[in-house]
Amino acid sequence: MKKILITGGAGFIGSHVVRKFVTKYPNYQIFNLDALTYAGNLENIADIENAPNYTFIKGDIVDGDFINNLFQEHQFDGVIHLAAESHVDRSITDPLSFVKTNVIGTMNLLNAAKTIWKDNSENKRFYHVSTDEVYGSLGAEGLFTETTSYDPNSPYSASKASSDHFVRAYGETYGLPYVITNCSNNYGTYHFPEKLIPLFINNIINNKPLPVYGDGKYTRDWLFVEDHAVAIDLVYHEGKNHHTYNIGGFNEWQNIDLVKLLCKLMDEKLGRTSGTSEQLITYVKDRPGHDLRYAIDASKINKELGWKPSVTFEQGLEKTIDWYLSNEKWLNNVTSGDYQKYYNEQYN
Ligand code: NAD
Ligand code: DAU
Repeated sequence: MKKILITGGAGFIGSHVVRKFVTKYPNYQIFNLDALTYAGNLENIADIENAPNYTFIKGDIVDGDFINNLFQEHQFDGVIHLAAESHVDRSITDPLSFVKTNVIGTMNLLNAAKTIWKDNSENKRFYHVSTDEVYGSLGAEGLFTETTSYDPNSPYSASKASSDHFVRAYGETYGLPYVITNCSNNYGTYHFPEKLIPLFINNIINNKPLPVYGDGKYTRDWLFVEDHAVAIDLVYHEGKNHHTYNIGGFNEWQNIDLVKLLCKLMDEKLGRTSGTSEQLITYVKDRPGHDLRYAIDASKINKELGWKPSVTFEQGLEKTIDWYLSNEKWLNNVTSGDYQKYYNEQYN
């Protein structure tokens, strides 16, 4: 039985990846390692917690001794590494915790994998899940390809870029079998409401202002999270060793247009008069170092592995909105307590 360690599996994307692997591969033993920070939530994976091929482990990837012992005990065949501090705004106020988790945490996993696979790395794989933000910002034209130079602008993207470099270096120097994917903005169910789409859905429900940074003309390429999980499954099993794959939605939106679409869909769902939610739009101070535009060229994964997104943005947004509207308890649980403090510090 293959033993696979998934890190960050109680978070947004990780929970979808854990669900996919646990349900699709009953012959794999899936270990989900997560520190359960503010972003980690066992409710995200409550539906599979009793599966016979699933084990949850609470632990911090920054603790090197703990990670080494865990790898010695279980002798994992593969690692899919998603655990990270993931929110750009938080990286601006607290960059060091991003270095600890995203850089040191990744190093600890790399060292532990290198040690247990030193005599035999055949059929082993270290999969590092990364972001398109490492490439920096595009102007009005062009797309990020796998050979675009790294040019990170935020402490978050600098920490992810650093971890990508270490993964690659361990491949070159120690022969560690790895793959890296750099993905664009995800959206979907179980998304913590600090990020644009779930934050704005929650604020529209509660008739709160929608804080659009700067002029709202910033552009992101949006991908439904379940399509990302499909891509991760494919790359884990069929991606070429020591390769990077870009993953994107072929779906660019300026923030302000996306927010207006969200307002329109929410008015329909909530039975509000058309135009009601748009009145909540409030332009606020810009994010420092705000990247103008991200857009992914996902032709490599499309050509080599046959992957492409399966849902349109409208379909994905509708599924997402419906989920938030019928999961009020989840939303209330994650927005109580510390969330209020974060919200006040960030937006007031
Ligand atoms: P998230 O913030 O929702 O979840 C992160 C998870 O990691 C949480 O469950 C948290 O408890 C856990 N974690 C944090 N620090 C930890 C530590 N020190 N030890 C163990 N666990 C820890 O993040 P996400 O949005 O699901 O992103 C997952 C990964 O995908 C990240 O590596 C991120 O950089 C990458 N990524 C995210 C996006 C996106 O749009 N969200 C896009 C591309 C890539
Ligand atoms: O591109 C991939 C990245 O996408 C991931 O690596 C990150 O983990 C993920 O958080 C996301 O980063 P962004 O900074 O692009 O996502 P966020 O949802 O924070 O912001 C999306 C855009 O919306 C961005 O231009 C900033 C803007 N924004 C965001 C918030 C939270 C606002 O205008 N107002 C807001 O309140």
